[in-house]
Amino acid sequence: MTACDLRVTWIVLLALTASINAQQSTSTHASIPSYDDPSVALVTSGLELASALANPYKSWAILNSSFGTDDSDWTTNITRTSNFTISGQPGLATSYPVLALNFVKAKILLDGPVALVFQHLVLQGFRSLPLTQSPGLDLLINPPADAGALVVVAEALLVLRICVPHTINQDQLLVNITRPAALPGKQTASSNVSQAGCTNTSLLPAAQAALVPYVSRCWPDAGMYGDIAVACSDVDSFGRATATHYSLQLLRTEFVCTEVMTAECVGRLGPLGCFLFMFPRTPPSPMPSPSPPTPPALPNSPPVAAAAAAGAAAGALAAEAAGRGPAGEAAAGDV
Ligand SMILES: *[C@@H]1O[C@H](CO)[C@@H](O)[C@H](O)[C@H]1NC(C)=O
Ligand SMILES: *[C@@H]1O[C@H](CO)[C@@H](O)[C@H](O)[C@H]1NC(C)=O
Ligand SMILES: *[C@@H]1O[C@H](CO)[C@@H](O)[C@H](O)[C@H]1NC(C)=O
Ligand SMILES: *[C@@H]1O[C@H](CO)[C@@H](O)[C@H](O)[C@H]1NC(C)=O
Ligand SMILES: *[C@@H]1O[C@H](CO)[C@@H](O)[C@H](O)[C@H]1NC(C)=O
Ligand SMILES: *[C@@H]1O[C@H](CO)[C@@H](O)[C@H](O)[C@H]1NC(C)=O
Repeated sequence: MTACDLRVTWIVLLALTASINAQQSTSTHASIPSYDDPSVALVTSGLELASALANPYKSWAILNSSFGTDDSDWTTNITRTSNFTISGQPGLATSYPVLALNFVKAKILLDGPVALVFQHLVLQGFRSLPLTQSPGLDLLINPPADAGALVVVAEALLVLRICVPHTINQDQLLVNITRPAALPGKQTASSNVSQAGCTNTSLLPAAQAALVPYVSRCWPDAGMYGDIAVACSDVDSFGRATATHYSLQLLRTEFVCTEVMTAECVGRLGPLGCFLFMFPRTPPSPMPSPSPPTPPALPNSPPVAAAAAAGAAAGALAAEAAGRGPAGEAAAGDV
């Protein structure tokens, strides 16, 4: 066998393994119906997406182009009582449309055991808080009690706003969380994966950079959530974890980090404290454009009050986490 044959065999084996894995693992989504199916809304804007979600006769929103959404698309809150899937077309991640959720907050209530699925797309502005310390989806209204509401992200590319430093394994934070009883399985993820061959978009003019698929760009960190299920949690104004009464499942989903906290900042303030310091909560930062905001650079020595407040918040979270159930666990893991 030549080296080339070996390489081909290896690729075929990889492909076979991938397809076997795909068949064996839980499939949460049916095959995609055609555009003219009455349950399908073909959406090209945030307004169309909101109107599809509000329509009980629709169970699919299919994107065939990228778009962003903002507050003006959601004039009324939406209550979903049946499953809904927001989907691109299956294929290579380079062809996924980008759905920029822009951290739009609290617009959809999943009423009952309802699943909201995102698949075959790039998801941006999903969660303003660090996903590992506060898993969830900003767009959801917290149900009053746990009735089995579920957000699934499957075969997608999740653009995380902020990740922990490379000294901590980003993926392990979620792997270490106990899965909700309703979603049995084994937590699997990897981080710090090689990005060999990526395109450094900061070296390109903005117009050219915008054309590079997200998955092909160089990121401060990247990885893969094979199968992760967690009970979600918010962080209240005192920095404490509070249960959101819905769960999040990440299946065969790559993640990339827009930014990574420095080890120095996390060492001083803890992951949550460092995040709150980098993205102060008051005044709330407006997120009008579909592209992510450029966060302020982290100064070397923070104002004492801010650092102390953030440190106290992180301490409160850690203390809270120590004595809590699922929500506490979601925020635990030495954070
Ligand atoms: C809704 O989605 C969940 C999770 O994928 C699934 O278990 C459930 O059977 C679905 N419900 C209906 C009515 O299809
Ligand atoms: C997007 O949908 C429109 C409307 O059905 C269709 O004409 C167009 O070909 C689609 N574009 C792609 C890239 O699939
Ligand atoms: C939507 O729900 C959120 C969270 O419950 C609430 O704060 C907001 O006032 C509601 N908006 C409207 C338009 O009812
Ligand atoms: C991540 O990768 C870099 C470069 O390969 C390495 O120096 C670092 O130790 C890795 N970090 C972890 C937590 O594995
Ligand atoms: C991308 O280019 C910038 C500017 O030259 C540089 O600072 C950065 O380290 C590069 N990133 C990678 C991943 O090569
Ligand atoms: C995850 O749990 C393992 C085993 O308990 C522990 O060694 C590791 O430090 C934890 N990782 C993180 C990032 O919390």
